[in-house]
Amino acid sequence: MNKGLWVNPHIVEIQEDPFLKNHRKPHTENMIRLHMNELPYVHPKVEEAVKTWAENPKLNLFPHGEMTRLVEIFADTIGVKPENILLFPGSSPALDSVLRTFTYKNFRMVYRIPTYGHAYQTMKINGIDPIPVRPTPIYSLEIEEILEAFDLYDAHGIYLTNPHNPTGQYLPAERIWDILDTIPDSVPLIIDETYVSFADTSFIGAADLIENYPNLIILRSFSQAFGLASLRIGAVISHEDNIEVLRKIRRDIDITPVAQMAALEALMNIEDYERVWEEIENIRDDIRDKLLEMDIVVYPSETNFLLLRVAQPDKLSYFLEENGILVRVFAQPSWMTGHMRISISWKEDMDKLLRTIAKAPKEYIHS
Ligand SMILES: Cc1ncc(COP(=O)(O)O)c(C=O)c1O
Repeated sequence: MNKGLWVNPHIVEIQEDPFLKNHRKPHTENMIRLHMNELPYVHPKVEEAVKTWAENPKLNLFPHGEMTRLVEIFADTIGVKPENILLFPGSSPALDSVLRTFTYKNFRMVYRIPTYGHAYQTMKINGIDPIPVRPTPIYSLEIEEILEAFDLYDAHGIYLTNPHNPTGQYLPAERIWDILDTIPDSVPLIIDETYVSFADTSFIGAADLIENYPNLIILRSFSQAFGLASLRIGAVISHEDNIEVLRKIRRDIDITPVAQMAALEALMNIEDYERVWEEIENIRDDIRDKLLEMDIVVYPSETNFLLLRVAQPDKLSYFLEENGILVRVFAQPSWMTGHMRISISWKEDMDKLLRTIAKAPKEYIHS
């Protein structure tokens, strides 16, 4: 019998993903980490700035809350006004704050499955009724499917990751535009653009739409694109009226000085990151071609990962782990169990992945 406290039913309903229970592998030097979409790069100037900070870290002081310069440079980088940006300790807490602020009791939110697991959890935690849309095949969402579900379920909001985790598909800005032109102005459209830096260079993201669409809320993260996952920093980008309301619940002291400083240094060196993103994209496309040559189903991707379909992903992932490579498998839902996601790292790591897959028992890959 459960001897703990009464639990909010929304939280009881959350199904824990068995993979996530043990996915936080120790940072052993000799493992190739292709399971969490981390960037295999830290900018030398960011590292240097962190080391300089560590010489006199003033650990006893609360963080400085304004972050003016960082916000200005970020706004300039993505072509919005500083008033359109609010920083958070990661894009996941940003989503939580957005949902707490702009949703209400019995709020129905259309979203695409499979999706980034934490987004589903955050919806549930906030008492939202998630309305799943499952495109068939899973990598090819059409916005009409989203809009149909929105009408059918008389929904109140839409959440999408774009480019999408875990399929890698992206919807061009014009398609996002179409959604915005169709739904009422009062309906929040939340677009998580965590992976947008790895998308086709002609894709500029939805940030330029916010002036015209006050119901558009964009989430960005410094975790993957800037390789700052351990420091926890992300942002909401939206109309300034939304930002003003969010400011009331955002605790600015939650963003550590070291995260602020590293993000600032990263943005000041954005050209170097652009080169890294391009290299990752090239490696991704090359690996996809090679996996296709091995007759493995691999979906097209505009992210720093690829989604594959293989006969026995569990066995293949154990085999890879024994050979020093961590990948992401999907234990649920049942129709995802044939899938495996691999993050893109440097060529040397990816070549090792290919060699290891080639050595794996054939029945793990083909049925
Ligand atoms: C779609 C998506 N959003 C957000 C995140 C995490 O962002 P953050 O580290 O800024 O909370 C991830 C990480 O895996 C993700 O896949």
